[in-house]
Amino acid sequence: MRLLFVCLGNICRSPTAEGVMADLLEREGLADRVTVDSVGTGDWHVGGPPDERAVAAAARRGIALTSIARQVTPQDLEDADLVLAMDERNRRDLLALAPTDAAGAKVRLLREFDPAAVGTGQLDVPDPYLGDGDGFAAVLEQIQAACAGLLEDLRPALADERR
Ligand code: 4NP
Repeated sequence: MRLLFVCLGNICRSPTAEGVMADLLEREGLADRVTVDSVGTGDWHVGGPPDERAVAAAARRGIALTSIARQVTPQDLEDADLVLAMDERNRRDLLALAPTDAAGAKVRLLREFDPAAVGTGQLDVPDPYLGDGDGFAAVLEQIQAACAGLLEDLRPALADERR
C-alpha cells in the first residue's frame, strides 16, 4: 500500500506526516507493507530539506524527518493508493490535478482519520510556516493523532493482505 502526504511547500506539514507515519509503521512491524512519501502542491522549496522548526518539533518526539521537497505530479496521484491532503486548499489543488476520477477519489483530508477532529469539524492542519514557531508543536500533535487513526483504518486491509 502506498500513502502520499501532501501540503503546500512540502517542508513543514507533509514531511512531518511522512515521518510520523513511517515511525508508527516501523513500531507496528508494518513498514514492509506500507510505503510513505510526501510532496507539495507548490514548487518554491523543491530539492530542499524540511523546515528546521518542523525537524526540531519532530526530534523532540524521537522522530526524524528525512524527505527532500518535490512538487506533486499527476503520476503521483496515479501511483498512490491513498493521498492525504493537509488542508482544504491542498485537497482542491489535488483534485484539479488528478488525471482521472479514480485518481481524484484517492484524495482525503488527513484529519478525516482523527475522530476528535471530525467531531469539531476542524479538518485542516494549519500551515505553520509564517507563524511564530508555536504552531509546529500543535501541528505535530494533530498529525500524530490523525496518523494513529489512519493506521487503525488501514489495519483490516493490511491484515487481509497477509492471508
Ligand atoms: P507546508 O508549509 O505546506 O506545511 O510545507 C509551507 C512552507 C512554505 C510555504 C508555504 C507553506 N511557502 O509559501 O514557501
